[in-house]
Amino acid sequence: MEKVILITGASGGMGGALARLFKSADVKLALHFNTNPIDIEPSDSVAHFQADLTEQEGVDKMVSAILERFGRIDVIVNNAGISKSAMSWKTESDAWRETMAINLDAAFYVSKAAIPIMRKQKSGRIINISSVVAQTGFIGTAAYAASKAGLIGLTKTLAKELIGSGITVNVLALGYFNVGMIADVPEDLRKQVVESIPAKRLGDPATVYETIQWLITEEAGYVTGQTVNLNGGLYS
Ligand SMILES: NC(=O)c1ccc[n+]([C@@H]2O[C@H](COP(=O)([O-])OP(=O)(O)OC[C@H]3O[C@@H](n4cnc5c(N)ncnc54)[C@H](OP(=O)(O)O)[C@@H]3O)[C@@H](O)[C@H]2O)c1
Repeated sequence: MEKVILITGASGGMGGALARLFKSADVKLALHFNTNPIDIEPSDSVAHFQADLTEQEGVDKMVSAILERFGRIDVIVNNAGISKSAMSWKTESDAWRETMAINLDAAFYVSKAAIPIMRKQKSGRIINISSVVAQTGFIGTAAYAASKAGLIGLTKTLAKELIGSGITVNVLALGYFNVGMIADVPEDLRKQVVESIPAKRLGDPATVYETIQWLITEEAGYVTGQTVNLNGGLYS
């Protein structure tokens, strides 16, 4: 049976790249967007779902619509996220709350809405997308780092709650990749970032895709609550 995979933020750099890679796999894709279009045409095996994931009601409607369309949800990739840079003492409370709402609340709402479906199926995979910044800190990213660290705690607890129902929950802590929000980093800072990575290059979404492909196998059913670091050796 083809797995039904929900990717949030499929209109963004990383989510779009993952969607294009999954498109050639034998899966059904539920692709989420908020304000920007998705560049993969809808088809029998691909559907688009719009939602502002910061509102639980919108998330619940989206998950119901996916269930109606595909009949099940096997995999969730909680990928939607934002990064707003400012020193902590200059971070406005609105920016703090917006970052928490998209990066952390949304992953909770999507998981919460899908867990009853996965528990009924007695199987499921939840994969949260975090960042190396959650582990190391990075100047000017207080809200982002805190929200991404929150995802690691959420992952560990969901993993313990759900392993008995055949559901695993893991988190990918990404270093710096060649798609998405890296485009907002000025060229000189980007050079410094690349220089700081032991691999001396940005990561490619194919690494994220292959890791997800492994985590969703039957054999990876014993892997849960883990933070998988995909960062070219960048640990501090
Ligand atoms: N790229 C990297 O190097 C890197 C490194 C570490 C971690 N990450 C993580 O990877 C994930 C994807 O990042 P990216 O680089 O692909 O960023 P991106 O290109 O800016 O994409 C962000 C995505 O989040 C969605 N989004 C934003 N606000 C939303 C809201 N209120 N409700 C629903 N969706 C919302 C956007 O939807 P719309 O555009 O449709 O509004 C978009 O699809 C993020 O969680 C990020 O923290 C990325």
